[in-house]
Amino acid sequence: MTVLVTERLELREFTADDAEFVLRLVNEPAFLRYIGDRGVRTLDDARRYIEDGPVAGYARDGHGLMRVVRRSDGAGVGMCGVLKRDTLPDPDIGFSFLPEHWSQGYALESARAVMRHARETLRLGRIVAITTKDNEPSMRLLGKLGFRPEGIVNLGGEDLRLFASMP
Ligand SMILES: CC(C)(COP(=O)(O)OP(=O)(O)OC[C@H]1O[C@@H](n2cnc3c(N)ncnc32)[C@H](O)[C@@H]1OP(=O)(O)O)[C@@H](O)C(=O)NCCC(=O)NCCS
Repeated sequence: MTVLVTERLELREFTADDAEFVLRLVNEPAFLRYIGDRGVRTLDDARRYIEDGPVAGYARDGHGLMRVVRRSDGAGVGMCGVLKRDTLPDPDIGFSFLPEHWSQGYALESARAVMRHARETLRLGRIVAITTKDNEPSMRLLGKLGFRPEGIVNLGGEDLRLFASMP
């Protein structure tokens, strides 16, 4: 299901058919470094990740990470969406793109659409974001989206920077 359409991109809900794309995305060096190792090594693992993560979120919360597709050629470029984690009191925005699609404004374009949708359609209030202390590209993006730093949170034993965007 397509949820959002922007000038160059389309954001649609993940399905099991996206396993190959997800397998690659979550094993990219930058994903492993800045987000973490989700233990996804096979297509079956990827299908499980999609089912237990994004797809479960759509049903439980009404939102979750979505696949970002380039409209001109249908290429999968990344994922972006608002998640609701047990470990944080507020929903948070997440994004990750394949390296060959960085620095073209795709992350900003999709994150802006996701934030607008979160406010206008999902009617979410405070939205947060977490990054590792050294994730400069992510922090630059959050700044452009109007997020403000709120200090440090410890999640699973790791100190992460917390950012927040108010309605
Ligand atoms: C975080 C991440 C999504 C940022 O991606 P990105 O491609 O740098 O972000 P954008 O799409 O906003 O692109 C920004 C750059 O594109 C440039 N750009 C080119 N064309 C553009 C356009 N049409 N519109 C806007 N910016 C454009 C901007 O000038 C900007 O350059 P800068 O980085 O030198 O400031 C990416 O680094 C990533 O996937 N990292 C791995 C996963 C990760 O860390 N996720 C976040 C966890 S908290």
